[in-house]
Amino acid sequence: MEIKTALLLLAMIMSTSPSHSAYYTRSTAYEPVQLKKTNLRFFFHDNLGGANPTAVQIAGPRDPNNPIPFGSLFAIDDLLTESPELTSRVVGNARGMYLSSGRGDDVALVLYVDLGFTAGRFNGSSLSVFSRNPVAESRREMAVVGGRGMFRKAEGTVFVSTHFVNFTYAVLEYNVEVIHP
Ligand SMILES: *[C@@H]1O[C@H](CO)[C@@H](O)[C@H](O)[C@H]1NC(C)=O
Ligand SMILES: *[C@@H]1O[C@H](CO)[C@@H](O)[C@H](O)[C@H]1NC(C)=O
Repeated sequence: MEIKTALLLLAMIMSTSPSHSAYYTRSTAYEPVQLKKTNLRFFFHDNLGGANPTAVQIAGPRDPNNPIPFGSLFAIDDLLTESPELTSRVVGNARGMYLSSGRGDDVALVLYVDLGFTAGRFNGSSLSVFSRNPVAESRREMAVVGGRGMFRKAEGTVFVSTHFVNFTYAVLEYNVEVIHP
């Protein structure tokens, strides 16, 4: 009797739940929107040292003579500021990771980062960067492959140059050109 009741209940639940015939919708015409171009300029602070590092090695070999040996993976929560000084206005943070990916003398990182803005018009929006970054070159570019918020479906380029670097601390100038809806 109890089993019969349970089966009856199950049948009732199944008959009232909506029927999903497929995991996709019908395709419809995509209405293109007028895209906009925005340029951004800010400074990226990567600090591997001191009591409060913003980049920490989470995997890979350690080498006292090389802070970023091949195969080392770092998690970052780096500050983005308006001017080169760390004390200047904070405009966002770079969260994600980078991997030291060059086997030779050419130190090359591959960045997987989300540049999130916390000030101004783009507060709450972010840019997704996935690219190699040959850090020894004076001017380098990285690909912006997407974004969130006002940068949803963005694409663009980050031009990076090194403003300051020592063994444990780097200040990088980021000039971004981004195309977005
Ligand atoms: C950025 O947005 C957050 C969330 O809406 C808000 O709390 C914060 O005050 C904003 N910051 C600035 C500088 O506008
Ligand atoms: C690198 O530069 C920063 C900022 O000037 C300084 O605080 C730090 O002590 C320096 N580190 C080394 C290893 O020279």
